[in-house]
Amino acid sequence: MRRTGTSVDPLWYKDAVIYEVPVKSFCDGNGDGIGDFEGLHSKLDYLQSLGVTCLWLLPFFPSPLRDDGYDIADYFSIHPSYGTLEDFKQFLDAAHARGLRVIVELVLNHTSDQHPWFQRARSAPAGSPERDFYVWNDTDQRHKEARIIFVDSERSNWTWDDEAKAFYWHRFFHHQPDLNFDNPVVVTELLTVLDFWLDLGVDGFRLDAVPYLIERDGTNCENLPETHAIIKTVRAHVNKRPSPPLLLAEANQPPADVRAYFGDGDGDECHMAYHFPVMPRIFMSLHLEDREPIVDVMERTPGIPENCQWAMFLRNHDELTLEMVTEDERDYMYLAYSMDPQGRINVGIRRRLAPLVGNSRPRIELLNALLFSLPGTPILYYGDEIGMGDNLYLGDRNGVRTPMQWTGDRNAGFSKADPAGLYSPVINDPVYGFPAVNVESQESDNASLLHWTRNMIRLRQHFKVFGRGSIDFLRPANTKVLVFTRSFEGDTLLCVANLSRTAQPVELDLRAYAGATPVETLGYTEFPPIGELPYFLTLGPYGFYWFELQRPHG
Ligand code: BGC
Repeated sequence: MRRTGTSVDPLWYKDAVIYEVPVKSFCDGNGDGIGDFEGLHSKLDYLQSLGVTCLWLLPFFPSPLRDDGYDIADYFSIHPSYGTLEDFKQFLDAAHARGLRVIVELVLNHTSDQHPWFQRARSAPAGSPERDFYVWNDTDQRHKEARIIFVDSERSNWTWDDEAKAFYWHRFFHHQPDLNFDNPVVVTELLTVLDFWLDLGVDGFRLDAVPYLIERDGTNCENLPETHAIIKTVRAHVNKRPSPPLLLAEANQPPADVRAYFGDGDGDECHMAYHFPVMPRIFMSLHLEDREPIVDVMERTPGIPENCQWAMFLRNHDELTLEMVTEDERDYMYLAYSMDPQGRINVGIRRRLAPLVGNSRPRIELLNALLFSLPGTPILYYGDEIGMGDNLYLGDRNGVRTPMQWTGDRNAGFSKADPAGLYSPVINDPVYGFPAVNVESQESDNASLLHWTRNMIRLRQHFKVFGRGSIDFLRPANTKVLVFTRSFEGDTLLCVANLSRTAQPVELDLRAYAGATPVETLGYTEFPPIGELPYFLTLGPYGFYWFELQRPHG
């Protein structure tokens, strides 16, 4: 079997395992109660030993933090709570020295209303170049077809600005005015931002909220051709670099619309895009104990250019979004995964992985096995490797952004500050609280979720086919079992997963592989060779197998 690629491979992101980490939440180096680059730096050994190969850092720029840093007030610096540019550089060098790549956020759709560009715009005369950095109108009646995204907190995509005596456009919070991408100067300014971070050495960017860059009358103002033209400009710009950075699109859209963010031809927009359509369907399949939601969405997913890759995820810093499912599906997802209305926000569920699945270790393992074996590059959310919980009493999405739980000591070992001074309380309930769930105790417990996750990452990294291979679904009669093969350059893995809470038999038509021997990859156990007859397997509750199909030599 082919092993994963080297660090100089331009397609490195295809073999990566990405770890999403908010600097604020990971480790506090200076004892002020807020995580920082010094703290993150000190935890690089942990991340390296976990086996992840790339870190995705949530926004760490100066910001009033009314949307946790997605409201940027200065693109060229570091929020003072998180350290200095020098701290960032030291962290980046240390990450690179360990072979870890680092991608950062490019929040290009909007800024904070505290950004000097907006402050300048609101006081500048209407029609002036300064005013033209944002999108203004005399009434709030334009672009009515555009949906409101943060339905729990916003009533309109327009907000009146008393100083400008005009309405400004915003797709998210009212304090996040959208930049005007019809203004070429705005595009040039953002390219300067990209260059600044690239010169510092970052390996890529997550393009936040990328479908909403351009507005046009009579449209829903999403995925417009003019928006794609801007992304093509960004890609062409970064392509001039000797090793172009990774561009990862955040586009929460149906399959065909997400596909568009890879661009045309060989892929002239983003290298990667989140597979938003499949994520909720993994949870739907688990709840229904039926493979159909996953198979259906994967089969409806258009092919992507050779050098492109899906980004797969189960959970992240936002709510588990249900925007891309039908109303009926949304209803049963709420019933299945968030009986407590407190767990709902906007059109989604603000919970971490472990609480979503009732802290069931078999279900957590099954979902991770799917994350690691479906086509694409997996992204792990910090803390999910130890099964951290959430805090529904914290507002917005803050309940899934609590301090990382390192030890059973004060503040979960996250900070030496007075507990009252932490940016957020640590999780301290009897089930998920830091005395019960922390890295230190899981390091010394060979059966812990941490060891299991580490093991699975290592196993996945052993087989290049996971990151690069094609997928083919088998359709055995038992629909509780999801079965697919992954193939790459003559190598084939067979993945079998029981989505139900009870043991299941499955009968597979594997005649195409007659003569091959399935070798179960976790234990390297040989199963009986495949012949012309149906191949029988039984799986325990939520059980799964990854088999390497070894063909006879010669
Ligand atoms: C980010 C959110 C953020 C929003 C507005 C999203 O795509 O993931 O956390 O609130 O963009 O910037």
